[in-house]
Amino acid sequence: MRLLILLILIIFLSKSNSVFIKQKQNQIPKTNNPYKLSNGLALTPPMGFNYWNFDGCETNLINETMMMNTAYAMSTNGMARVGYEYVNLDDCWMAKSRDENGNLLPDPIRFPSGIKHLADYIHSLGLKFGIYGDIGTTTCKGYPGSENYLEQDAKTFAEWGVDFVKMDGCNMQVEDMKEAYTDLGKYLQATGRPMVYSCSWPTYAYVENITMPFDYIEGICNLWREFQDIRDDFTEWTQILDEMEDSLPKRSQFAGPSHFNDPDMLEIGNGLESNIEYKSMISLWSIIAAPLIAGNDILTMSKETLEILINEEVIQVNQDPLGLQGNRVYQNQGLEVYQRTLINDSYAIAMFNRGDVQSDITITSDMLNLTNHQNFNIRDLWSHTDNGTFSDTFTASVEPHGTIMIKLSPKINNIYLPLKYRKHLLK
Ligand SMILES: *[C@@H]1O[C@H](CO)[C@@H](O)[C@H](O)[C@H]1NC(C)=O
Ligand SMILES: *[C@@H]1O[C@H](CO)[C@@H](O)[C@H](O)[C@H]1NC(C)=O
Ligand SMILES: *[C@@H]1O[C@H](CO)[C@@H](O)[C@H](O)[C@H]1NC(C)=O
Ligand SMILES: *[C@@H]1O[C@H](CO)[C@@H](O)[C@H](O)[C@H]1NC(C)=O
Ligand SMILES: *[C@@H]1O[C@H](CO)[C@@H](O)[C@H](O)[C@H]1NC(C)=O
Repeated sequence: MRLLILLILIIFLSKSNSVFIKQKQNQIPKTNNPYKLSNGLALTPPMGFNYWNFDGCETNLINETMMMNTAYAMSTNGMARVGYEYVNLDDCWMAKSRDENGNLLPDPIRFPSGIKHLADYIHSLGLKFGIYGDIGTTTCKGYPGSENYLEQDAKTFAEWGVDFVKMDGCNMQVEDMKEAYTDLGKYLQATGRPMVYSCSWPTYAYVENITMPFDYIEGICNLWREFQDIRDDFTEWTQILDEMEDSLPKRSQFAGPSHFNDPDMLEIGNGLESNIEYKSMISLWSIIAAPLIAGNDILTMSKETLEILINEEVIQVNQDPLGLQGNRVYQNQGLEVYQRTLINDSYAIAMFNRGDVQSDITITSDMLNLTNHQNFNIRDLWSHTDNGTFSDTFTASVEPHGTIMIKLSPKINNIYLPLKYRKHLLK
């Protein structure tokens, strides 16, 4: 008897070992990376605000009043309630040069009360504060860069009360970025202040067609920007989506709690697309576990824009605790299906019509790899209604450039029950 158990054990072990070796061969070799970022942040994709997409830079819109008013608006308009928490600066907040001790300074006209004052105010609202820097000699717009000042700037950020650091990569050789981004991460961590660390390295590697070690950056940054800069244009952001889906190595494998792919900030409400397109954007950004950083003017946005930004059922998909990035599972002539695995045996599905005519899109259990003929409750995350049962197929008519976003949750005996009750029933 014992011998038999031993024999089975040996067979099992040798089998699982060979499976293990096989999987290993299919992976990219792991870069030697003894250092790991461990700030415990960004367990789900960060949500917040950044002015870059609606304002760019060099205008008179950016100043401490605007930042404070924006933070206050976010704390009262429902955005903070659903999870938008980081209120972030982008380029052009700095003075043109450092002080005599090499410290970064804010633009004295835009931020006369200083950055710590702004951070304190944002914190007083229960929100968090993000800053922008550049790993090279100067920022993209020509303000002081952090090259040669990495440790000093990390300390400055911590003293100011920064919670999120977006580190751009203008004016540095891509070949030098591995070391620079790693070093800054170490310096940030050494301050003892937890700061989300967002790196732009892959975007610059992409532009120069240099191979990116994603298995490495996954260990040193909470987020990493990819592909080209986004614009308020349907063709433009869908191209970024395609790049996210089609690029090798497959990007979704690198996403998880504390480390996410960043296809760039939202353009919702910036005026050059329809609300149908903006709804598609946030639906798909939620399926691919992208950070949700609103890039529109919060102080002047319409009610419709706000409603798109704060759809809690869609945000719940984005913020799913498993942190798994979804994938496109079907595409045919502009009709596409995306699937994200969620907690509690559930799935988020986006049925996306990129074409110019209203079209039916059908999802099937084969397409979704749900082949055990289980029944799922269909929840429409934009109409906020339960729409029957999915077992093998479901068809919806999708408007041009629109997305039907649904959540499939398991049903037992054809009744949909939350998991805690299901567990009870299964006993
Ligand atoms: C800040 O910018 C706003 C426009 O966004 C402007 O109305 C205001 O006068 C500026 N305030 C200061 C102190 O410069
Ligand atoms: C990018 O580099 C790869 C090899 O690393 C090469 O096969 C490909 O043609 C290059 N693409 C461009 C646009 O240069
Ligand atoms: C489909 O599901 C099976 C069983 O759960 C799993 O082993 C397989 O990897 C899945 N395939 C894909 C493509 O996700
Ligand atoms: C679900 O039902 C609602 C209410 O009837 C409807 O407005 C919505 O379009 C339906 N959704 C789908 C995906 O069929
Ligand atoms: C998942 O199931 C657990 C246990 O029933 C429940 O507490 C939790 O709210 C569920 N999560 C979601 C996102 O539905």
